[in-house]
Amino acid sequence: MLPLGIVTISDRATAGVYEDKSGPAIREVYTRWLAMPWQEAYRLVPDEQPAIEAALCELADVVRCPLIVTTGGTGPAPRDVTPEATMAVCDRLLPGFGEQMRAESLKTVPTAILSRQIAGTRGGSLIINLPGKPAAIEECLRAIWAAVPYCVELIG
Ligand code: MTE
Repeated sequence: MLPLGIVTISDRATAGVYEDKSGPAIREVYTRWLAMPWQEAYRLVPDEQPAIEAALCELADVVRCPLIVTTGGTGPAPRDVTPEATMAVCDRLLPGFGEQMRAESLKTVPTAILSRQIAGTRGGSLIINLPGKPAAIEECLRAIWAAVPYCVELIG
């Protein structure tokens, strides 16, 4: 079955201060939008660059997820390091994904400009960053979803 990655990056969700709602929102979108059976590979990590990099590398290299969607850690706060971790593990970046997600989000959310979300490839895996807000998940994924299957086919 197709393994798909979901990585929630949050100090507070990792510490149990609150429940992760963004990871389940990604799961919900996968479930609704995908026609084929898939298997979830979910990781919850703190806002620490080495931990994020390790989760992304494991999902790409060991679990071999064609798609890995992350949520959280994309803003300008000092502990927001998800784009840095993504850049560090990717072979190549796909700047259009971040541009398109921000452009779509900015139509309704002025603070969308604060997200540094990016996307890129590591081997046969497409890694896409989303902001940590549950409401942002579907909005952002809808903006780029049409390009995902073709991208996965091209890199696979
Ligand atoms: N994009 C969408 N679609 N919806 C949102 O609510 N929140 C913004 C932005 N992008 C938001 C959004 C805010 S307030 C921040 S601080 C940045 O994403 C970064 O969020 P993160 O650090 O949780 O990733």
